[in-house]
Amino acid sequence: MRTIIEIKDLKKRYGDGTVALKGVNLNLTKRLTTVIGRNGAGKTTMMRILSTQLMPSSGKAVVDGLDVVRDAWMLRKKLVSIPQEASPMGFLTPMEHLKTYLIARGSTMGQAAKDAENALRTLELWDARNTPADELSGGMKRKIFVAMALAANAEVVFLDEPTTGLDPLSRLEVWSAVKMLKGTVVLTTHYMEEAQELSEEIAMVDHGECIGFGTVQSLLKKFRGMVRAETGADGAKGRYTIGNTKIRYVKLRDAEHYVDEGYTIKPITLEDLFVIRGVELES
Ligand SMILES: Nc1ncnc2c1ncn2[C@@H]1O[C@H](COP(=O)(O)OP(=O)(O)OP(=O)(O)O)[C@@H](O)[C@H]1O
Ligand SMILES: [Mg+2]
Repeated sequence: MRTIIEIKDLKKRYGDGTVALKGVNLNLTKRLTTVIGRNGAGKTTMMRILSTQLMPSSGKAVVDGLDVVRDAWMLRKKLVSIPQEASPMGFLTPMEHLKTYLIARGSTMGQAAKDAENALRTLELWDARNTPADELSGGMKRKIFVAMALAANAEVVFLDEPTTGLDPLSRLEVWSAVKMLKGTVVLTTHYMEEAQELSEEIAMVDHGECIGFGTVQSLLKKFRGMVRAETGADGAKGRYTIGNTKIRYVKLRDAEHYVDEGYTIKPITLEDLFVIRGVELES
């Protein structure tokens, strides 16, 4: 199996002393990997280092054979990175954004117009192609960037929260565009169902560390045959507490007993891995 992105003991300490990455090790070999994690987990820091926008404090990252520090200039030609806070230029239209971007990347005028049209049609931005971005909705603004990534046809694409704030239908459009990207894709998200829908592999980042990596099935293996029982009742038992909610993981066959005790039963999702934070389950 070929390693497409290799991350070794990657650390990042910002100037103010914040340690955003504490030593991440990951080998990404699949076409599409999703990085999930709570606010402040270190996802954006990792994406910025991998896309050569931020220097690591120590450790190593190699993307498609190129070192993110030593070979940054060469690597930049191969990748597209859509930052989390990306917002379009208000006075430019979607078509102008795409054409300018493609020409800056080296396309001819004719090719840029063709690739821009395909991408804008795919993301249903074609009717709005000549509308200044200022007059578009938040979701449509976001889609301009996904269209840019699609049109650029890059070998590696980093998308930092591409669907945040989108309505469910726009999210589906973005998902289908992401599936169409030819290169290797790494995307971050807060939506567990997005990670499950899109990726072959998921990296879970928490407090600057990778606490889990693999397919959805392999990540949820330790929960096999279990359900989540939660309650807000005073005095009720729960090994994990989030706000007022007490959570425990119980065998499916015991679920009825917990319902009688006032617990609500829920199926296990990837979210539960963050609840237990990689710690072993109670037996
Ligand atoms: N430029 C910076 N200077 C100092 N600290 C920073 C800087 N950028 C991020 N941080 C801190 O580094 C940590 C990781 O931030 P990061 O943006 O990588 O998290 P994230 O997982 O992308 O979060 P979110 O889901 O909210 O986007 C946080 O504690 C954050 O406050
Ligand atoms: Mg972020």
